[in-house]
Amino acid sequence: MDVHSIRRHFAFADFGRIVANNAASTQPPRELLALYRSLADRYENVHRGQSDASREMTALFEDAYDTIADFIGAPDRTGIALYRNTTEAINSVMYALLTEFRDGDNVVTTMMEHNSNHVPWYALCREVLPRLGRSVQHRLARFDPRTGELDLDHLAALIDSRTKLVCCTAASNFLGTRNPIGTIRGLCDASGYPQPTGERRSRLLVDAAQLVPGAYVDVRALDVDYLAFSFHKMLAPFGVGALYARPHLLAAGLPFLYGGDMIAEGRVFPDRVEYNALPWKYAAGSPNILGTIVSAQALRLLLDLALTPGRPMYFGTGRAIERPAVRAAMNRVADWNRSLTGRALAGLEAVDGITIYGPRDAARRTSLVAFNLAGRDPIGVAEALNRAGVEARAGCHCATLAHHALGLVPPASCRVSFYLYNTPDEVDRIVAAVAAVAAGRAASVPADAPAPGAAGNAPTARRARSAAEA
Ligand SMILES: Cc1ncc(COP(=O)(O)O)c(C=O)c1O
Repeated sequence: MDVHSIRRHFAFADFGRIVANNAASTQPPRELLALYRSLADRYENVHRGQSDASREMTALFEDAYDTIADFIGAPDRTGIALYRNTTEAINSVMYALLTEFRDGDNVVTTMMEHNSNHVPWYALCREVLPRLGRSVQHRLARFDPRTGELDLDHLAALIDSRTKLVCCTAASNFLGTRNPIGTIRGLCDASGYPQPTGERRSRLLVDAAQLVPGAYVDVRALDVDYLAFSFHKMLAPFGVGALYARPHLLAAGLPFLYGGDMIAEGRVFPDRVEYNALPWKYAAGSPNILGTIVSAQALRLLLDLALTPGRPMYFGTGRAIERPAVRAAMNRVADWNRSLTGRALAGLEAVDGITIYGPRDAARRTSLVAFNLAGRDPIGVAEALNRAGVEARAGCHCATLAHHALGLVPPASCRVSFYLYNTPDEVDRIVAAVAAVAAGRAASVPADAPAPGAAGNAPTARRARSAAEA
């Protein structure tokens, strides 16, 4: 990974920032922000005009769906529905399936879910369906508090012939644990649950918010029914998230949102409505057009940064994205993230009074490390790190159940997370800062120097301050 070339694409690197909150959101490359601005010249709505501008914007918007489908190995754009984020994508499945649940069914999720993949199912089973007179159980699989690994025996025991749906994160945003999707698919297959489509297996929804940004994903090889992720965790600006669903489920399912553009042109009558072809059946109302175009270009740029950072091959082109290129690029990103995470784990383990959560082996993790320091409030730790120039995050990271399961009071931890532009040197500086905070002494983080690869003329470079001031 040519990290120094990669960093030239990002403004944050000019300011000496050590960005270590990438599991929340990544930084946008300059090209994407410039693309956003350049689209202003051609600004128009899509599917709603005969001007050249509208037709050009429509073509760019529709091409974006193809890029997204190619990136995750979906058969084509008919398996892609775009929403605001992962949260909305998961909620869309909840609403689409609402009418399919039968009395006595159950939904199985895990104790390591982000609230985005817990609360919708909690609300469905405890609030929504009871009002419709239907009783559906919400079952939660445990994880091993010592290793952070999902308890597959417990999960297997919870899945039965009444399990309509299993919802599971591919990677925990707190423990870092990578879950074995193939094994979980096998458990779903064995349930024998009779779906309305005639299939006899539980459906599988994978929350891939922490997977797609840093791994090669092939939705057909994973054989998932639904998979959700957000582009703001993989270089794009905020505002767009994707749902992949097997096209026959989208074809047969009820739409999540109803209104304009999701209907077949002219096919609306007082007593009958015909829906638009996929994927537009799931694109009600004026969409986030610029966000969608820029999000798809973020995927193209991600490939370029991983493969040829000085020489764009995919960004800004209509070039088809081939699977081998996606595999090569994302394996490089995964290797880089793993080496940074391994280095962070090794360094942090040596810090006095630290408790690190989740698997010890970087190969079992996504690129984050959450921890607590004995006797220290995690929010105070993150604030002290910020004063030392390290941008960490503390709180429950929306993984509230997992914090409770570990008996953490308050339910909070401090987390550092990495992406393809972080350097080993930054990891060392983060470890040094955490050690300094733990020891209650000044952090030895020379954060007033631009980070490696920075332009070197940063006028407002962040100055290191004593972490002990916390
Ligand atoms: C595992 C996981 N799922 C879901 C989400 C929610 O993503 P969004 O805020 O983009 O909806 C996150 C965000 O941190 C996450 O880490």
